Amino acid sequence: MRYYSFWDRLVFCIDEALPVMQIQRCSAVTRPSPAEGLIPHESVLSKEELQLSGSLMRINHVGEICAQALYTGQALSASSKDIQKKLKKAAGEEIDHLNWCEQRIHELDTHVSYLNSFWYLNSLLIGLAAGLWGDKVSLGFLAETEHQVERHLCKHLQKLPLQDKKSRAILEKMRQEELEHALTAEHAGAVPLPLVIQWIMQSLANFMSMVAYRI
Ligand SMILES: [Fe+2]
Ligand SMILES: [Fe+2]
Repeated sequence: MRYYSFWDRLVFCIDEALPVMQIQRCSAVTRPSPAEGLIPHESVLSKEELQLSGSLMRINHVGEICAQALYTGQALSASSKDIQKKLKKAAGEEIDHLNWCEQRIHELDTHVSYLNSFWYLNSLLIGLAAGLWGDKVSLGFLAETEHQVERHLCKHLQKLPLQDKKSRAILEKMRQEELEHALTAEHAGAVPLPLVIQWIMQSLANFMSMVAYRI
């Protein structure tokens, strides 16, 4: 088996980051969107409802950009090959979520966040730092992130206009999968994070949501 140094992995990481930071849909779509085949209901949505759906989906798209960066950063600094693999796998699965959200944002005739490169770099650094605390903490970070995202998606499902069935289908599928990601990390040995860290993570996520809702 070939050995990759930290610098090799850093080059791979930059290579993967470029399409995400350029805000192009990644080519590695492996699964069709859960919204595919559903009848579009955009015409029955009012202007305000379209704006609301678009803004909520923009937040979720930023969340997926951050997930890519977090898991890539964690994989880069993880010491165990097995954990590196698990983190890379998690990042790969999030690409579908990223693409589904971006596709929906375009259908809703709005834009992705103008600050995606900023969100990506920040999350990459946070992921790198989390990985340096050891693999069990890194998995704990992954589990806590996924639980917070799952709770956040529940709130968005309540806020979305009832008629926006396409966005609903995407968020519902993502919610199920984020929960699965959290459980996988817990089964792999994640340790619970201190409450203060959970609080900081939630506060950062709230700030990001507030900004991404607008720009
Ligand atoms: Fe996701
Ligand atoms: Fe996830």
